[in-house]
Amino acid sequence: MSPRARTDSVHISPSAHYTGYVWYRHELSEPAFATGFGRFAHTLLTPLTWGVRELSGLDLENILLQRHLLLDARLGEAIEQGGVRQVVEIACGLSPRGRRFCQRYPRLRYLEADLPAMAARKRLLLHGEGWLDSRHRVRDVDILAEQGELSLASLFAELDRSEPVLVITEGLVNYFPLAALEGFWTRLAAQLAGFPQGIYLTELYPDLREHPRYRQLRWGIDVVGRLTRGGYWLHYRDELEIVAAFRKCGFAQVEVHDPDRIDIELPRLNMPSMLRVIEARAA
Ligand SMILES: C[S@@+](CC[C@H](N)C(=O)[O-])C[C@H]1O[C@@H](n2cnc3c(N)ncnc32)[C@H](O)[C@@H]1O
Repeated sequence: MSPRARTDSVHISPSAHYTGYVWYRHELSEPAFATGFGRFAHTLLTPLTWGVRELSGLDLENILLQRHLLLDARLGEAIEQGGVRQVVEIACGLSPRGRRFCQRYPRLRYLEADLPAMAARKRLLLHGEGWLDSRHRVRDVDILAEQGELSLASLFAELDRSEPVLVITEGLVNYFPLAALEGFWTRLAAQLAGFPQGIYLTELYPDLREHPRYRQLRWGIDVVGRLTRGGYWLHYRDELEIVAAFRKCGFAQVEVHDPDRIDIELPRLNMPSMLRVIEARAA
């Protein structure tokens, strides 16, 4: 199936239950974050992910863990070394990061955001456990909204503009075609420019055609696109293209982290990692 451009992206939300269950399975989160649907989807897909691993060597869970832990490590560094005191996690889904980082850093303010239905679910979950308070909140956002109450401008209106801010997206960007994605990044860079320091962290899977398992990867990616009833795009051929794209969107500094070349303990794959974590700073 060729990737279809859709004007909405609610079809992506169920995938948050799957990843939420993966974080729980690997003891990165508490039972409240594991939903019945997440457990069901994980059980249902286990034969498929096992087959993919046996046939192609691609280990989906280790790839997911690499991205989650690498983003955590960069966020921890920005808080401890860079003085970040407020974090916005867009497309938070059932990620436990807000909970874990608020526990770890008692002065941190953490704003989670997602499409309205997923945000409502997350708000209910955190509220039910007594984990929401004035420094840990959940808001509605749609990264495709250029204006209105779901826009980035509206989300950012409640942040403290005198303090550095860090924005994270995880498991989001490859679901969008390039024009939609670069539109979001351009609006995001403009918002971040209004803070003393504005950092954006995201993972990205580039179109690494020289990767030794490229054909299997492409196949696996098409499966993800089909399962989420949309498309899954591989953007940019290499680091140079990634840096140029982020600069074009308005970011001043761009670092590309490759899990195979970073000094952080991560689950290893038995092939070069196709994951990249981008750390971009606004002008
Ligand atoms: C694969 S899940 C990732 C969830 C979480 N970040 C994680 O890694 O477990 C994708 C998330 O993107 C959210 N999402 C999809 N389209 C969005 C949009 N237009 N704006 C904001 N969030 C969106 C979905 O609701 C879902 O929670």
